[in-house]
Amino acid sequence: MAEASKALSPLDAKRQIEYMERVFSLNEKHAIDMGLRRKVFVLTLGCQQNEADSERLLGMALKMGYEKTEVPDDASLIIVNTCAIREHAEKRALSLVGQYKHIKAKNPELIIVVCGCMVVQEHRVNDIKHRYPYVDILFGPSLIHKMPEHIYNRMSGSKRIFDPDDKIYTFAEGLPVCRESSFKAWVSIMYGCNNFCSYCIVPYVRGRERSRKREDVINEVRELVEKGYKDITLLGQNVNSYGVDSGFDYDFADLLSDIDKIEGDYIIHFMTSHPKNASKKLIDVMADSKHVARHFHLPMQSGSDSVLRAMNRRYDFEKYIGILDYIREKMPECTVSSDIIVGFPTETDKDFEDTLAALERARFDMIYSFQYSPRKGTPAAEMVQIEQSVKQERFDRMLALQNSISLENNKKTEGKTLRVLCEGESKNNTDTYFGRTEGGKIVFFEPCPENIGKFVDVNIERGDTFALYGKII
Ligand code: 5AD
Ligand code: SF4
Repeated sequence: MAEASKALSPLDAKRQIEYMERVFSLNEKHAIDMGLRRKVFVLTLGCQQNEADSERLLGMALKMGYEKTEVPDDASLIIVNTCAIREHAEKRALSLVGQYKHIKAKNPELIIVVCGCMVVQEHRVNDIKHRYPYVDILFGPSLIHKMPEHIYNRMSGSKRIFDPDDKIYTFAEGLPVCRESSFKAWVSIMYGCNNFCSYCIVPYVRGRERSRKREDVINEVRELVEKGYKDITLLGQNVNSYGVDSGFDYDFADLLSDIDKIEGDYIIHFMTSHPKNASKKLIDVMADSKHVARHFHLPMQSGSDSVLRAMNRRYDFEKYIGILDYIREKMPECTVSSDIIVGFPTETDKDFEDTLAALERARFDMIYSFQYSPRKGTPAAEMVQIEQSVKQERFDRMLALQNSISLENNKKTEGKTLRVLCEGESKNNTDTYFGRTEGGKIVFFEPCPENIGKFVDVNIERGDTFALYGKII
């Protein structure tokens, strides 16, 4: 586990740039000799932080002379960025890595990298070492900047490389980045988590909180706005503790307020916020801001005080609902979403009923709901577990209730005009385009290729459980 953290020294950063150049030369030579460029395939599992990390991994790979491909069979470098938050995510990662075995058999020069949260855990490192011998390189999420060095060494004949965790939890500024979208962007403002919720693996795999310098964050946002980005999401496991580790009298609300001063046509989202330190000051800054989206993602996890205590969440339902009421008092139009876990080890029928009552009271626009998944090394994994059938039954009941609340909330948008960022063609139906409101609600409307990446005003004709439908004005 991390005891210290530091920003990557300029010297170490320079070293990695040199490695990028060396790999670039090897790849250039290959392109000239063989008449074709080596390609990189990046697969990302898990949260937005992982997506942001993958944009840096891809950015470095492009600098090293690889071309991006969506087809793993065509790649000379496959990067799997894994997640450890629930067992399901780990099983998926391992099954996907398993599928790359046959590609390696056909193409022995293929380099397979497995990185991200899953591979910080010792038992997973051992799994990969022994059961996945065709994986070449493994590194944890705080070591992504070392990928160029590892790739160069492996290309130059080194043994398989295992670098799960440096116990220092470095973070690097100035890595090349290749963003997936030309109008939506992630900006990490801090890394790691100090909260140790008793069910959660994140503090063990992502280390202690460390905040980026405010100038670095503000400059990154300003550059994005200047390039025309419209929707910028500030990321951290708990953005509300931004700056605490640096000891300055400058908190997340101050950062948000400074970012809001940047001129332009854009909106700012942020996630995730821990309710124990979601301050009135932050809500006041949001309410007074020009660019901060009227959307609050505030994970409640449970509506039962005894479960919240066992989860080590450090708030009770009364405190939670107090924050929610204040958000709605200051911003009646604000969309609120939440995370809920059912089947946490100590959860009784009564506790679960408390969660249902909390959902009735909170009336979230949407929730991300999860069945508790034991994570090795966390306190909750050692407690007496709830039967799977009980978890499933509670999960189904909770979803049915939340769906009726979401539907009721979405119906209230009918007849209103909402500002929507147009994202493009709907995946399932090319005759429909889709976008998101600043509150994160999905809206479907008629095709309008000229508006991709722009804000449009949509008149909402129908509000359904999971989406809104309307016409552009
Ligand atoms: N089991 C189920 N859900 C979990 N989450 C975190 N850890 C676990 C776990 N072990 C959920 C929490 C968190 C979200 C990102 O994932 O609700 O807010
Ligand atoms: Fe996990 Fe809790 Fe940290 Fe969120 S705040 S990352 S749930 S430990």
